[in-house]
Amino acid sequence: MPEIEYKKDLLQIIKAFNAAISNSRLYTFKHPQVKQYIELTYLELDRILQIGQEITLIVIGENLVFNNQTVQDGGPNIYQFVTILQENNIERITFIEGLSKEILYQLIKDLASSETTALKSSEHIKLGKVEIRVDDTELSQDESLSDNSYENLKDIISLRDATLSEIKGIYRDIKIKKKQLDIRGVEEMISAFVKGFTQGINPISMLASLKSVDEYTFTHVINVCILTMSQAESLGFSGEHLYQIGVASVMHDAGKLFIPEEILNKPGKLSREERAIIETHTTKGARYILGLENMPRIAVLGALEHHIKYDGTGYPLIKGKWNPNIVSQMIAVADVFDAMRSRRSYSPPKSTELIIKILTEEKGTAFNPFLIDSFIKLISM
Ligand SMILES: [Fe+2]
Ligand SMILES: [Fe+2]
Repeated sequence: MPEIEYKKDLLQIIKAFNAAISNSRLYTFKHPQVKQYIELTYLELDRILQIGQEITLIVIGENLVFNNQTVQDGGPNIYQFVTILQENNIERITFIEGLSKEILYQLIKDLASSETTALKSSEHIKLGKVEIRVDDTELSQDESLSDNSYENLKDIISLRDATLSEIKGIYRDIKIKKKQLDIRGVEEMISAFVKGFTQGINPISMLASLKSVDEYTFTHVINVCILTMSQAESLGFSGEHLYQIGVASVMHDAGKLFIPEEILNKPGKLSREERAIIETHTTKGARYILGLENMPRIAVLGALEHHIKYDGTGYPLIKGKWNPNIVSQMIAVADVFDAMRSRRSYSPPKSTELIIKILTEEKGTAFNPFLIDSFIKLISM
């Protein structure tokens, strides 16, 4: 089927789908008009599924993406459809060949109701978050958590999301080379994380997922902060030291703001020259943090050393035998773990199992063996 026709058909499905939802909200689910629109949605869907077998629609921001392209010219229909999915916390929906009318009825009924708890994937309709990160622990009430820690986890998640915009602000300030950074909001986030660790909440469940590709740096920074601090806390760091380690992890990639975006976000392989430019984010970051008044000294080391491996290889090249600080070593573990979990332009995300295998293989060469053992214990709680 030519692409253009496919898109026209997709728009037909979306229109009928929207109409089914709004009519069932307006009348009752049993109203003949609702039935009529669901039938129409089903017929159109089934026709395409018989040819294409699968349709996946992804919500990114306000846009709907189909076949790696934003669906244009959909006007209010697309807007309404995206809103319905967002209201139900769905970022991705896949219809698979063999879909029955009953299942579609149930989906529309669930989407139209204000209760989102009933929504579940089935064999022919898969619902989920955008698979930019894998193994995202859903915010479901884990049996091992007491009511109290569950409530705290929810608090941590909302504070973490609120801090995302503050982190953006800090990184924006770094870009314009402001001498005074406002990190008050981060302080609050860091204390919330500490509270979570001391209650035994698994750090993996606190991690943020990537909503859109341009938020990579900020999401990455928050996740490196969570993963570094939980290591530090488990090793006995506390109070002001733990707080400073949190700040150091938030600042570890500050130098990236001084690297041209075309190189930083270049899809595909980098040339040797481009790689060398990216590698300067360590020294540039360290030099920048050194000039700030309200930054702990450990943040300078974290930025400088987080790509120096345990055996002294990596970058930047420092003359003589250089042992990276223990905090930089913890940041390095967190940094690699988060990078491997995320889908970048050049590689797909890896499962936690595979990452653990890779980290274990690099014990003693890239990473401090003691840190790896304790990190694996932490994330497998
Ligand atoms: Fe880095
Ligand atoms: Fe990083």
